[in-house]
Amino acid sequence: MDAYADWTSDSSKNEVIIPYISMHGSTERMVNYLVDVLIKKGVNVKPLNLTYTDMGEVALELVDATTMIIASPTVLTGPHPSVVYATYLANALRPKLKYVSVIGSYGWGGRMLEQIEGMIKNLKVETIEPLIIKGFPKEDDYKKLDEIAEQIFQRHSELGIV
Ligand SMILES: Cc1cc2nc3c(=O)[nH]c(=O)nc-3n(C[C@H](O)[C@H](O)[C@H](O)COP(=O)(O)O)c2cc1C
Repeated sequence: MDAYADWTSDSSKNEVIIPYISMHGSTERMVNYLVDVLIKKGVNVKPLNLTYTDMGEVALELVDATTMIIASPTVLTGPHPSVVYATYLANALRPKLKYVSVIGSYGWGGRMLEQIEGMIKNLKVETIEPLIIKGFPKEDDYKKLDEIAEQIFQRHSELGIV
């Protein structure tokens, strides 16, 4: 009964889940940097590399997470298929997530961000400024990742969960 009360309550934990994949390493560099900054701020973070993470684990990590950062390269104008799968799952499960952002990389153009936004309509979340960059992250991009981490920290602090 306690577990049931917990699952149905609105309370979430000081956790950020980052389902991600990276073909050439650009998105992965962004994820690794964000993970380091969040940990330094006292925010728990679970990067889930979708190359070898079971979708059951993604579902499990979604139960208590407050924030989800979807991280993907642009593939054939949209998100990578594995990220599509994880995003679809998150939307279907309607977890307690309160904040979502999207980060990732592209080569020449596409509609990845719009496509991901269109896939999470079930989630009652506030969007944290996304960051889609060209190629590998550069100095300016790391500064923007610092800002995303700070925003997450502030939101979690306001909830009193950090
Ligand atoms: C199969 C494939 C399809 C791609 N399709 C696109 C695309 O439609 N639009 C685009 O801007 N870049 C496209 N790219 C380029 C990647 O998005 C770009 O190299 C990006 O920096 C890769 O990120 P990653 O290093 O995290 O894998 C494609 C790359 C591959 C391998």
